[in-house]
Amino acid sequence: MQAEKKPMTKKQYFDKCKKFDNLRNKVASDPYRMKFHLQPPLGWLNDPNGLCQIGSQYHIYFQYTPFNPNGGTGLWGHMVTEDFIHYEEHEPSIFPDSSWDANGAYSGSAYEENGEYYFFYTGNVKYEGEEYNYITDGREQNVILTITKDGYNFSKKQLIMTNSDFPEDMSKHVRDPQIIKRGNHYYMILGARDLSDKGSVVLFKSNDLYHWKYELRFTTQDVFGYMWECPNYVEIDGKQFLIVCPQGIKQNGLDYANAHQCGYFPLNYKFEDKTYQLGEFCQLDRGFNFYAPQVFKDHKGRNILIGWMGMPESDYNNDKTVKNGWQHALSLPRELYVTEEGKLAQKPLEELKKLRTNEKKMEFNNELSVSTSIWFEIHVDFEVSRDFVLKLRESAELRYEEGILTLDITSCGSGRKHRGIAIKTIEDIRIFSDSSSLEIFVNRGEVVFTTRIYDSMEELSCELKGEYLSGVLKYYDLTIEK
Ligand code: FRU
Repeated sequence: MQAEKKPMTKKQYFDKCKKFDNLRNKVASDPYRMKFHLQPPLGWLNDPNGLCQIGSQYHIYFQYTPFNPNGGTGLWGHMVTEDFIHYEEHEPSIFPDSSWDANGAYSGSAYEENGEYYFFYTGNVKYEGEEYNYITDGREQNVILTITKDGYNFSKKQLIMTNSDFPEDMSKHVRDPQIIKRGNHYYMILGARDLSDKGSVVLFKSNDLYHWKYELRFTTQDVFGYMWECPNYVEIDGKQFLIVCPQGIKQNGLDYANAHQCGYFPLNYKFEDKTYQLGEFCQLDRGFNFYAPQVFKDHKGRNILIGWMGMPESDYNNDKTVKNGWQHALSLPRELYVTEEGKLAQKPLEELKKLRTNEKKMEFNNELSVSTSIWFEIHVDFEVSRDFVLKLRESAELRYEEGILTLDITSCGSGRKHRGIAIKTIEDIRIFSDSSSLEIFVNRGEVVFTTRIYDSMEELSCELKGEYLSGVLKYYDLTIEK
């Protein structure tokens, strides 16, 4: 049993960086490069990791394959921001440089206690050999711990758990740890696939963060996908939610239209007596590109959600950026809140208002047309239950027809077509457009569509048309002051 040799040490990374300086410039000059989203400086990015606030700085780490825009063995990239508008690149923080994570420093999260930030993540190891299926054998997924006080300097890695610490009926896919503190105890959740191909979240308990004992697993009665990735336990206003990314769910009408899903179960877990109920799964996003999100609480007490603006194994692409040496970005940061109906909703972080300039306020009756820049925010305030069409940018369309709201980017989506959801009434729509992305928040963020988009970026406009439509549209150009 020998691990495939693809690890990358810090030294190898910096040696290779020198050869890639030109590519950085090529990436930076790509017109599809975005203005106010976090993107990989070059190469590939996926999940946000280790989100935390230390002092006035927000640390955002991410799954990063700097030298290949199509992915590969990942390390943890690192960006820092104080305002969620300006992001500063720092050297990667976790390298796949040990025998425990030789094939990828996979996803993980930060847990703070007494000024120390405990980063638990998954070390992925793949053995070389044709005999392996990499599901029930040929793979290790180790829980690794490294601690930092400042977000930049990390302690020596410690191996906390290996596959043999997981329940016996688990496959080799158990990963993406997150820590919860309750009373004097710590809990760790991990996304899992069992040997019968049933997805779940396994829960471990500890008194000291180093020794963990299996408690139970959260899962549905009927199989709901074969694997649940990237779990997040979120508690807001006393309500519990379990965010997961289930894989292997078939499309059902307008639901579960992407290759893999991202959503949450309302949860009722009694830590003391180990009983739980999971409510109905609800998708967090109705667009093409939102996956593997992470939630963290900042010093203001906000539950901030950031997702990967990608989708694994999708049948659409980002070829336009790949040819310029990079792929993917993180979503805008959103604050989670609970609606009166007990659902999770998302509102773009307050800080993003600082991007606004040139406000135009327009009242409309039945129709409205305004030319837009590439980088804009619009906010439509109305109340409709009749059909309308909102054309965006070059040819994207948000249509409301017979109670179904559809985002259609067939002509400018690089393979993306349409996604929809049934909604009874529409009360407000807030849209953020960046060079190659659209994020659409409907009814105060109860429904969100996140997607990449690839149009000509020329002669863009926003046109609203319908019958018995009246309301107010506010338009802002979005710019960043250096
Ligand atoms: C989700 C995911 C995680 C894993 C990481 C590897 O996109 O598959 O489960 O830790 O990506 O990059």
